[in-house]
This record gives sequence, C-alpha cells and structure tokens, in this order.
Amino acid sequence: MSKKKLVVLSGAGISAESGLSTFRDTGGLWAQYRIEDVATPEAWRRNQKLVLDFYNQRRREVMNAQPNAAHKALAELEDHFDVTVITQNIDDLHERGGSKKILHLHGEIMKSRSSADYQLLYECRGEIHVGDKCELGSQLRPHVVWFGEAVPMMDAAIEETGQSEIFVVVGTSLQVYPAAGLLNYSPAGAKKFLVDPNKPDIMPVRNLEMILEKASVGVPQLVRRLINDFK
Ligand code: APR
Repeated sequence: MSKKKLVVLSGAGISAESGLSTFRDTGGLWAQYRIEDVATPEAWRRNQKLVLDFYNQRRREVMNAQPNAAHKALAELEDHFDVTVITQNIDDLHERGGSKKILHLHGEIMKSRSSADYQLLYECRGEIHVGDKCELGSQLRPHVVWFGEAVPMMDAAIEETGQSEIFVVVGTSLQVYPAAGLLNYSPAGAKKFLVDPNKPDIMPVRNLEMILEKASVGVPQLVRRLINDFK
C-alpha cells in the first residue's frame, strides 16, 4: 500500500532549541539587525562586507548547532509516510536530523553562489569574504534568498503541498510570503497540524489542530500520534 503524502512547513522556531535565533521573537535577529542592512539586494550593493559578515556569523552558529528532537522526529516519519520537508530555514539541521527530501525556500547557508549565475553553487563550510570569486570571476555571495528576490523553489513547494494528505506546520510566524501562503495550498480535506508555543496570528483554517508546545516536545508527540493513527 502506498504511503500517505505528508508535507512539513518549518520555520526558525524548529531550530530555536538547537540554539539558533528566530527572527521575530523577542531578541530575534530582526531586533539585532535591520533587514535593509543585511538581507536585501540593496544592502548587498551598498555594503558587501557587512552582508558577508552577517552570514559568516550565522554560518558559524549553524556549524556549532545540532539537530534537536523535533528534526529527528520528522525524519522518523519517513518510515511510515511519503514525507517532504519544506523549510524556510537556511540551516542544515533537517539534513543532519535525517530527513531526506527537503526543499529550502529561502536558500542554504552552507552553500555559496556566483553573483553572475544564480545556479552556480559551491559548498561553503567557512567564510565568504569580499574578493572571493566564482569560476566566472564574479563575487561569491551566500546562497540565501533576500527580501525582494524570487523564491525559485516555490512552484515545487506548491506542487508538493497540493498533494498532501497531512500538512504539518512547525515554528513559523507565517508572516513572510509567499512561504506563508503554502498553508492555503494544502487541500481542504488534508489534516493540518501546527506546532508552536505561541498561537500565530492567522485566519481560521479548516481541519487545523494547534499544538501549543515548543517543537522538541510537540513534534515528537505529534509524530507518535501520526504513526499510531495512520499506520
Ligand atoms: N518551538 C516551536 N516554535 C517556536 C519555538 C520553539 N522552541 N520558539 C519560537 N517559536 C516560534 C515563534 O512563536 C514564531 O511563531 O517560531 C516562530 C518564529 O517566527 P519567525 O521568527 O518569524 O521565523 P520564520 O517564521 O521562520 O520567518 C520566516 O522570515 O526573515 C525571514 O527569511 C527569513 O525564513 C525567514 C522568514
């Protein structure tokens, strides 16, 4: 019998207990930095060093972080369901937690890319500095989607979400589009779950159960339920 299709949409909250800052919680990244200084094409044009240093710091933090119980529980689902993890996160904790099918809507901090060809990517396990060039001779940049830039993986994410029988949202304020809109692409009949200690400010959604817990508690609990209920 084919496995039911289960799609996950995760945000910074799933990595909070791994020690990585969220964006909009108290003391989050956007309380420490201005988005327009470090996460827009204009910022890149204005001050490449500031932007590179911001992401070098975040890459160091990701390399020092470990996947938590929520990342690992999502990987366990793959024995029982056809799982796709759609993440807004640029960390590699889903990969290191064992998930196999992952779509990074906002890019990946452990990769750099050419400024001249957005498809020319390189592994990056260190720092990027002004003067570091791609093989075409253009400045290397973080492989991250900045505000105002296209989200190339969005069509694939919509396609996956549209086929989901179970849709699980973990650790996102659902404030940033187009990612936040994915919840509306899950079929009306799909069972939807949302794990977050705070109730997000969203319109009511049919078939949505809120689990007001932090990810490391709520996700393993939900995974045990799903495996039990849907096997
Ligand atoms: N467990 C689960 N959820 C948590 C936890 C936790 N331990 N701690 C915080 N959260 C929740 C918060 O309640 C909030 O709903 O995680 C969410 C974090 O929201 P944001 O900081 O807005 O992060 P996110 O939704 O991922 O932001 C989306 O915005 O700045 C851009 O590109 C960036 O991908 C990011 C996008």
